[in-house]
Amino acid sequence: CEKPDARPLRQRLLVVANRLPVSAVRKGEDSWSLEMSAGGLVSALLGVKEFEARWIGWAGVNVPDEVGQKALTKALGEKRCIPVFLDEEIVHRYYNGYCNNILWPLFHYLGLPQEDRLATTRSFQSQFEAYKKANQMFADVVHQHYEEGDVVWCHDYHLMFLPKCLKERNNNMKVGWFLHTPFPSSEIHRTLPSRSDLLRSVLAADLVGFHTYDYARHFVSACTRILGLEGTPEGVEDQGRLTRVAAFPIGIDSDRFIRALELPKVQGHINELKERFAGRKVMLGVDRLDMIKGIPQKILAFEKFLEEYPSWCDKVVLLQIAVPTRTDVPEYQKLTSQVHEIVGRINGRFGTLTAVPIHHLMCISAGNFKRLAGLRFIAEKGGRDRSLDFFALCALYAVTDVALVTSLRDGMNLVSYEFVACQDLKKGVLILSEFAGAAQSLGAGAILVNPWNITEVADSIRQALTMTPEEREKRHQHNFVHVTTHTAQEWAETFVSELNDTVIEAQLRTRQ
Ligand code: G6P
Repeated sequence: CEKPDARPLRQRLLVVANRLPVSAVRKGEDSWSLEMSAGGLVSALLGVKEFEARWIGWAGVNVPDEVGQKALTKALGEKRCIPVFLDEEIVHRYYNGYCNNILWPLFHYLGLPQEDRLATTRSFQSQFEAYKKANQMFADVVHQHYEEGDVVWCHDYHLMFLPKCLKERNNNMKVGWFLHTPFPSSEIHRTLPSRSDLLRSVLAADLVGFHTYDYARHFVSACTRILGLEGTPEGVEDQGRLTRVAAFPIGIDSDRFIRALELPKVQGHINELKERFAGRKVMLGVDRLDMIKGIPQKILAFEKFLEEYPSWCDKVVLLQIAVPTRTDVPEYQKLTSQVHEIVGRINGRFGTLTAVPIHHLMCISAGNFKRLAGLRFIAEKGGRDRSLDFFALCALYAVTDVALVTSLRDGMNLVSYEFVACQDLKKGVLILSEFAGAAQSLGAGAILVNPWNITEVADSIRQALTMTPEEREKRHQHNFVHVTTHTAQEWAETFVSELNDTVIEAQLRTRQ
């Protein structure tokens, strides 16, 4: 039996991400209830057997008092999680501001926000300062917990400053950084006032990873064109030091979805849904309520389809599940109203006394993705506290005839993978945006569309609904093989072992 303070035998992996994989709810002055999320990154890292993972990140709640912080730290510790406490003011300028109002839209080709373009340099500058400060706070927690031999894996656009902060204090630390969003063309990146600082900081890492080869190529071009550094087939070189840059496409824990379909409770959900939508083809969208997901464009394309092919009106239903996040950012609030308005109009136009063409559900969670902030937001909009748990989501995927993923840009989009994993019986069709990273892996099996072209998407809906069973089978098979072989575990293992090797190589070079 292992003593509580015994050193782990396996090498430790410190995973640093903006958010911890938990939802924390305060129950009393010194008590917390924690719900672990079994999301993509968690299950990926559970598969990495040779490392013992610890998580460092923000718990998503404001805890101003010491008693609350101590209690939360203790509760999280039991789940191998270490909190970074960010106060409301920092969250506002770092998370709502620089991360989600500046970097997120820019990296998804939506440009910089108008106000910042129009000379509010002070607000841009103050958000950037908060971003650096928050990254430094993450670095401080990593340093407190780091032990020699640990591998540190930093995640996403929130923490682009972290590799530099870590290496400045300890150059021997093995540091990897992975971006879960697209990295845009260098022509887009160069519009960012802090473009060079961010690139230089990321380059302090030993290994830099992206979902697709294109994103990696854009990053290398940004380093060569903006910083004047040299791009090599392996990465970027700066004064003899090489930062390796490569593509590591993420996957899902496909077995978890496939196994869930056999459970009696999932079969029960499936039967209910089949009965509820008998005689109608089911189309499905599952998205975070985010501008990049192209939800208005998707719904407008569905309206166009109903206009062009009216005989389908009472034979098809679109179920659109949306999970609100980042609800303090004004762009996200505007989007919610916009979606409500379009859905209302279409249901008014094409609905009957007994059926509506679109069911638009705002949920605080869909499967593993949960945002408690959505609770207050949904309540304010007069909605209900609704959740779609993992099992209900699997059932929904399984009864779907056509899944619609119309992201305007998306790092990868794992909803498309989850749908495929649950479709081995039905062999439904995936309509997939060519601007989602997943289009590079599921391209041959899906119907690829430009989400901005609503006529094209409307025609693809018809093509999907009338596709022959042979064609569906062929396309599904292609996707299914990909989703079940390129799993989340394989992704994490590959990145972590390359990170380990990269540093060893670098050290060897220094010793020679
Ligand atoms: C994207 C990002 C993640 C982020 C998630 C949810 O997938 O790449 O880092 O956690 O969106 O966004 P939220 O702001 O709610 O954490």
